[in-house]
Amino acid sequence: MKVSYEQLIENAIEARKMAYTPYSKYKVGAALLSSDNKIIKGCNIENAAYGPTNCAERTAFFKAVSEGVKEFSAIAIVGGLENETDLFSGYAFPCGVCRQVMREFCDSEFEIVVARSTNDYKVYTLGELLPESFGPDNLKA
Ligand code: THU
Repeated sequence: MKVSYEQLIENAIEARKMAYTPYSKYKVGAALLSSDNKIIKGCNIENAAYGPTNCAERTAFFKAVSEGVKEFSAIAIVGGLENETDLFSGYAFPCGVCRQVMREFCDSEFEIVVARSTNDYKVYTLGELLPESFGPDNLKA
């Protein structure tokens, strides 16, 4: 991977600054790495009606796909309450809906990097976080 995990996490921390979270105050940043080494950032965007809230990971995926980028190798995610800035108290794992969106475009080796800082992180594969999944192949004849 030409882009390091540390660089990807730095981008996720940067993306988190744009999070729009007047309701939960929980800010998430994601940095998605395409197969041709482009970084696409995303943040969570909340809504007064709650339901339309979009997670940081999905923001990044939808930005990328809407610009024609559909092949990915990794995503870094950071999250924490708004007073947390550099060392987050916990790892922000992707929700089930975001894991399913990843499944649409990524194979089981896609890497999910959950970070508390640029040097405190864990790396999982999508296969580990979404085993026995349903995906595009299930709908093929
Ligand atoms: N959130 C994300 O951005 N990503 C996740 O995978 C889990 C949750 C956001 C949604 C909402 O704005 C806030 O975190 C609290 O649920």
